[in-house]
Amino acid sequence: MVFEAFSWLRLFLFFTSIACFFIVSLSVFVLRLKPWCSCEICQSFLSSRWSLEFSNLCDWYSHLLLKSETGTIRVHVLGNIITANPENVEYMLKTRFDNYPKGKTFSAILGDLLGKGIFNVDGHLWKFQRKMACLELGNLSAKSYAFEIAVSEIRSRLIPLLSSVAGKENGVLDLQDVFQRFSFDSICKFSFGQDPGCLKLSLPVSEFAVAFDLASKLSADRALTVSPLIWKIKRFFNLGSEKKLKEAIKSVNILAEELIKQKRNMDVSSHEDLLSRFMATIDDDKFLRDIVISFLLAGRDTIASSLTTFFWLLSNHPDVTLAIREESDHIMGSKTQDLASFEQLREMHYLQAAVHESMRLFPPVQFDSKFCQEDDILPDGTFVAKGTRVTYHPYAMGRMETIWGPDCLEFKPERWLQDGIFKQVNPFKYPVFQAGVRVCLGKEMALVEMKTVALSLIRQFDIQMANPNQTLKFMPGLTATVKNGLPVFVEERNR
Ligand code: HEM
Repeated sequence: MVFEAFSWLRLFLFFTSIACFFIVSLSVFVLRLKPWCSCEICQSFLSSRWSLEFSNLCDWYSHLLLKSETGTIRVHVLGNIITANPENVEYMLKTRFDNYPKGKTFSAILGDLLGKGIFNVDGHLWKFQRKMACLELGNLSAKSYAFEIAVSEIRSRLIPLLSSVAGKENGVLDLQDVFQRFSFDSICKFSFGQDPGCLKLSLPVSEFAVAFDLASKLSADRALTVSPLIWKIKRFFNLGSEKKLKEAIKSVNILAEELIKQKRNMDVSSHEDLLSRFMATIDDDKFLRDIVISFLLAGRDTIASSLTTFFWLLSNHPDVTLAIREESDHIMGSKTQDLASFEQLREMHYLQAAVHESMRLFPPVQFDSKFCQEDDILPDGTFVAKGTRVTYHPYAMGRMETIWGPDCLEFKPERWLQDGIFKQVNPFKYPVFQAGVRVCLGKEMALVEMKTVALSLIRQFDIQMANPNQTLKFMPGLTATVKNGLPVFVEERNR
């Protein structure tokens, strides 16, 4: 009897202390956010008034940043400083890199899916993976392996799929879905040496792709809750979206563990995929899983997003499509079925300019945040208190007159050319692949893949929007995804 009473008391004390902990944490959180803030930005944010004038949150932020004298704004209710000032960007990504880590808040949001993978960690764990990944991705064999994967996926799946609907009266194709399937197949082959076959002609449903998409989406949704405590409580009690997330991550893990087990039983010394390469130095299977899942997340939707917005822009700029065809005909001859070689792609300066220009206006990662470790002052004079989230905003930066001049809203590949030769800009003015110490590791690979895919379609097909007046509305998430996709009609080109 006494024992039972003691157990109840322990239970009572346990739940009371959890409740107290949540209440205190919530109060501290709420006090730091100043939810009572009455400034115009916060009021417009809280009431969603901004959406009366702008289709996308990033357009509203661009408008505010453009008006700001320093190119920096504060959203007090989110505890967030947002900047489009290149000097601030250089400061946080390079000069004071150590003071602006990804931080625990971000790591917690993606932690269940990404574990200790490169994308989700700071400090020595990040340094170790970065060094190893630089060695593996920097060599020529990895680059040509990625190129071969893209070429084979284009020849055997992408072109046959578009040809199968070309000229058909009801042959509407969602180009965004096609690119997502393409990039999932490619990044899985590159990371694991496995082909999920998402882009096969029947457009099959891949269990792995569905679980991975759901896990990424639900993880990203955590960032939208007013306080991290909300998703943490739901996770603790295994409720709603957190229950679904747990199940999706479980499916991803089962499939990833199976792949790793299979590889362990093979001689992988001649295999070129990332997993096989990393297996040579890493014994811990959980760590291996985390590393490749990070690559999957980094390389999947980014490529699909960049291609989707590029084709949307091309549909409104037939002159650019024409110039890309002319340049490639000049270098490759006019047989449209041929795919460009690695060397030929390097000669295409206009194409290189066009894809950079497209991502200037529509960066796949529209904004990216860091968490300040110690009180600091940004180069434009903005005070940053310890723990503040600081976001640099490539989407807004692509729309700044101060950076790109008065024609900044126009799609003009020529702005990247000097005497016909492509010229890089300062990466802190164009942090589409981030910049500085933690710059994207797949940048070169992504550009080659993007150009190969785009060029093969531009040369072989005429692509028209099914809804010529479609404007781009983006869904919330880690990568820019167009709401309702990009439905198009396709015609084979007659030459
Ligand atoms: C158009 C395509 C791409 C864009 C715009 C892009 C952009 C970015 C950005 C903005 C980051 C920084 C994210 C952050 O730290 O929060 C990043 C990091 C990264 N990207 Fe990419 N990426 C692209 C494609 C790829 C591809 C294809 C791969 C892999 C093959 C890749 C691998 C990585 C990795 C491993 C990191 C983490 C680097 C680190 O933390 O040290 N990316 N990328």
